[in-house]
Amino acid sequence: MRTLTRVALAGLVLTATGCQFFASKDRDVVQKGYRGTAMEVNYVARNQEQAMAELAKKMPAILPPAGESPPGPLPWQNVQVLNDIPVAEFNRTMVAMATWVAGGAGNCGYCHNLAAFASDTYPDGKAIYTKAVARRMIQMTRNINSEWTEHVGNTGVTCYTCHMGKPLPNGLWFYTNENQLLRHYLDGGGARVVSHTVAPSPENRSSVKQTEWTYALMITQSQALGVNCTFCHNSRQFASWEQAPPQRVTAYAGIQMLRDVNTNYLAPLAGTYHPSRLGPMGDAPKAQCVTCHNGVYKPLYGFQMAKHYPAVWGTHTDWTTPLPPPFTTPPAPPVIDTTIVADSLAAATAPAVAPVVPPTGR
Ligand code: HEC
Ligand code: HEC
Ligand code: HEC
Ligand code: HEC
Repeated sequence: MRTLTRVALAGLVLTATGCQFFASKDRDVVQKGYRGTAMEVNYVARNQEQAMAELAKKMPAILPPAGESPPGPLPWQNVQVLNDIPVAEFNRTMVAMATWVAGGAGNCGYCHNLAAFASDTYPDGKAIYTKAVARRMIQMTRNINSEWTEHVGNTGVTCYTCHMGKPLPNGLWFYTNENQLLRHYLDGGGARVVSHTVAPSPENRSSVKQTEWTYALMITQSQALGVNCTFCHNSRQFASWEQAPPQRVTAYAGIQMLRDVNTNYLAPLAGTYHPSRLGPMGDAPKAQCVTCHNGVYKPLYGFQMAKHYPAVWGTHTDWTTPLPPPFTTPPAPPVIDTTIVADSLAAATAPAVAPVVPPTGR
C-alpha cells in the first residue's frame, strides 16, 4: 500500500512539474514548417537572452575604423595576401587578429619574430608555423565569405567565429576509428540511408552501420547548432527535401562548404603545423559544424562581425544589398553505386542503369 502511495505521489509531482514546464510563459514555440504539420521548435526565451548577454560580454569590441593611410606604395616587404588593403586597415587587422586568435591585442609574438615582422622565421632560422598557417587562414576566411554566401549569407565569418580568442577552435577532429562519421565533412559520402521503396531493392544497400553513422552525424549537427531534428526535417519523412524547412538546404550547403574548407585549406596544412598539433595518423586538425556554430543556430547569434573588417571579405564587398536566395532546387537524389546495381541487375537483363551524377550542392 505504501509503495502504491509513493508511486501515486511521484506521478502527481511529475504531472505537476510537467504541466508547469509546458505552461511556462518563458517557453516560446516557433512554427518551422508548413502550418498544421506540427513542426515546432521549442525554446526558452530567457535562456537565449542570457546566453546572448554572456557572449556579448566576452566578444571583443569592434575596433574603431582605421584612420588615414600614408600616401605612396605599401611599405611591406613580405605581404602576400593582405596587399589589397590600405596600411592603416592592415595594422587594424593585425590587432584584431591577435585578439581573435592569440588571446590579446598585444600578442603579436604568437605569429611574429618581434625583431623582424616581415620574416617568416625566428632569429634561429626555424619557420614560424603560426604565421604560415595564419596566412592560409586569411585566404580560407576570404573564400568562405565570398564563395559560400549560400551558407554564411550576409553574416560571414571572421577568425573569431572559429577561434573565439584562442589558438585552438572547438570541434577539431582527426582520422581515428571513433569519429569516422565526421569523414562526411571531408570525403565520406552516403549519408542518405532511408529507403525509397517499400520492398527491398538494389537501390538501397545501406547497412545498419551506415545508418548508425547517419544518425550519429545528425545528432552531432543538432548539438553543434543547439537545435532539435525538426529544425531541419519534417519528422514524418526525414528523407524528404520538399517537406523540410529551408534550414536543411542551408545545412546541406554547410556540408559542401566544410568539404571545401577541410579538403583545400585545413588538411593540406599538415606539413606546416607543429607536429604536436597533428593527429595520431599524422593528419592536420579539421573543422566541423560546431567549430563555427559553437552550439548556436547562427554563429554569434548572427552578429555581423565580418562586415567591419574588409580584410576578411575577399571579393564580397557589399553588405547592404540582399544576396540572391540559396539554391532553390533540392539537391540531386541519393547516389547509387552503379557498379553494384549493374552487377545485380545484369543477371536479370534489366536495362542499363544510367550513371547518377553525385550532388554538387552548388
Ligand atoms: C594570427 C597571426 C598573427 C598575429 C597575431 C599578428 N600577425 Fe602580423 N602578420 C601575420 C601574417 C600572416 C602576415 C603576412 C600577411 C600576408 O602575407 O598577407 C603578417 C604581416 C605583418 C606585417 C607586415 C610585415 C612585412 O613588411 O611584410 C606587420 C608589420 C605585422 N604583421 C604586424 C603585426 C603586429 C604589430 C601584430 C600585433 C598587434 C601582429 N602583426 C599580429 C600574422 C599575424
Ligand atoms: C572555419 C574555422 C576557422 C576560421 C574562420 C579560422 N580558423 Fe584558424 N584554425 C582553424 C582550425 C580548425 C585550426 C587547427 C587548430 C590547430 O592548430 O590544432 C586553426 C589553426 C590556426 C592557427 C594555428 C594555431 C596553432 O597554434 O596550431 C592560426 C595561427 C590560425 N588558425 C589563425 C587564423 C586566423 C588569423 C584566422 C582569420 C583570418 C583564422 N585562423 C580563421 C579554423 C579556423
Ligand atoms: C542542421 C540541419 C539538420 C539537423 C538539425 C538534422 N539534420 Fe538530418 N539531414 C540534414 C541534411 C542536410 C541531410 C542530407 C545530408 C546529405 O545528403 O549529405 C540530412 C539527412 C538525414 C537523414 C538521411 C535521409 C536520407 O535521405 O536517407 C536522416 C535519417 C536524418 N537526416 C535524420 C536526422 C535526425 C534523426 C536528426 C535529429 C537527431 C537530424 N537529422 C537533424 C540536416 C539536418
Ligand atoms: C565557416 C563557419 C561555418 C561552418 C563550418 C558551418 N556554418 Fe552554418 N552558418 C554559418 C553562418 C555565418 C551562418 C549564418 C548565416 C546567415 O546569417 O544567414 C550559418 C547558418 C546556418 C544555418 C541557418 C540557420 C537559420 O536560422 O537559418 C544552418 C541550418 C546551418 N548554418 C547549419 C550548419 C551545419 C549543419 C554545418 C555543418 C555541416 C554548418 N552550419 C557549418 C557558419 C558556418
